[in-house]
Amino acid sequence: MNEKIKHLISIKGLEVNNINEILSLASTYFDRDNKYILSNNKLAGVTCSNLFFENSTRTKSTFELAAQKLGAHVLSLHMASSSSSKGESLLDTVANICAMQTQILVIRHNEEGTPLMLSKHVPEYTHIINAGDGRGEHPTQALLDMYTIKLNKGDISKLSVAVVGDILHSRVARSNLYALKLLGCQDIRVIAPKNLLPFDIDTFNIKVFDSMENGIKDADVIIMLRIQNERMTSGLISSIQDYQRQYGLDSIKIKYAKHNVSVMHPGPINRGIEISNEVADGPHSLILQQVRNGLAVRMAVMEYLLF
Ligand code: NCD
Repeated sequence: MNEKIKHLISIKGLEVNNINEILSLASTYFDRDNKYILSNNKLAGVTCSNLFFENSTRTKSTFELAAQKLGAHVLSLHMASSSSSKGESLLDTVANICAMQTQILVIRHNEEGTPLMLSKHVPEYTHIINAGDGRGEHPTQALLDMYTIKLNKGDISKLSVAVVGDILHSRVARSNLYALKLLGCQDIRVIAPKNLLPFDIDTFNIKVFDSMENGIKDADVIIMLRIQNERMTSGLISSIQDYQRQYGLDSIKIKYAKHNVSVMHPGPINRGIEISNEVADGPHSLILQQVRNGLAVRMAVMEYLLF
C-alpha cells in the first residue's frame, strides 16, 4: 500500500510508487508535443514560501514559477536581507513564515538535516520541500533527472547510468543514486577520484570507477557533477587541470559511451572543467531540458503533497 507523504525531505525512504506517481503527474502538465508546460489553478489560494539560505538560480526560479503556474501566492525571501541577519533563529523565522498561512515551504539550507528538523516543528497545514540540504539530498533534482531520463531513454531499469565527479559533496548524486536504485536501474556506476567518494559509498552497492574510459564505457546516460569548491577542503584534488584531464567530459572521452548517450548536469556548469563547451552545447546534452522538466516536476511535487 502506498503511503501518502506529507513532506518531501529525501528520496531515501520513498516508495517506488511515490516516484512514479509524481513523474506521471508531471507529464500531465505538458502539452501534446511534450514541449510547453500548461498553467492551471489547482493551487489557487495556496501560499508557497521559498526560503533559500544558499545561492540558487534554477531551483529557486523553477519553484517560484511552478507555484505561479498552479495559481498559488508566492513569497520568496531574500535571506541576506531578512531578520535572520539580525540574529533571528531559524525556528522563529520559519514559525513566522508559517503563521502567514504558508502551506508549502520550500527550503534550501547549508546544514544537512535542516528540512527534516523543521518538519517536526511546522504546523499541521505546512508541507516542507527540501530544495537541497548541505551534502544531504536534493530530492526534486533527482525527480526531474529521473523524469528526463525516462522521457528520453525509456525504462530506467534497463539503462547503464554513470554519475561522474564530486560525489562526496553532491546532494544531487546522493538523491540520484537512491532514485536510480528505487527505479530498479541494474547498471549504476560512479566515477570519481578516490578523494571525492563518500565514506559510505559501499552501502549503495554500485560499481565504482576511478577512470572515465572504463566507467562510461557503453553508458546510456552520463550525469556530470560540478566540482563544489564551496564545500571542498584543500588537497582533495591535485589540481583543476589534472581533474579536467582525467574526469572532464569532452568530445574525445564521450566516444567511450554509447553513440546515442545522453549527457546531463544539474547546473551550474563549470565550462572547460567538468564539461567541455562542445559537449555541454552539443547534440547529446539534455542540460536545458532538465531545467524545463524541473518546472513540471516541481509543479507535480506541490500538487502531490497537497492533495
Ligand atoms: C545543484 C545544487 O545546488 O545542489 N544545483 C542545482 O540545484 N541545480 C548542484 C550544484 O550546485 O552543483
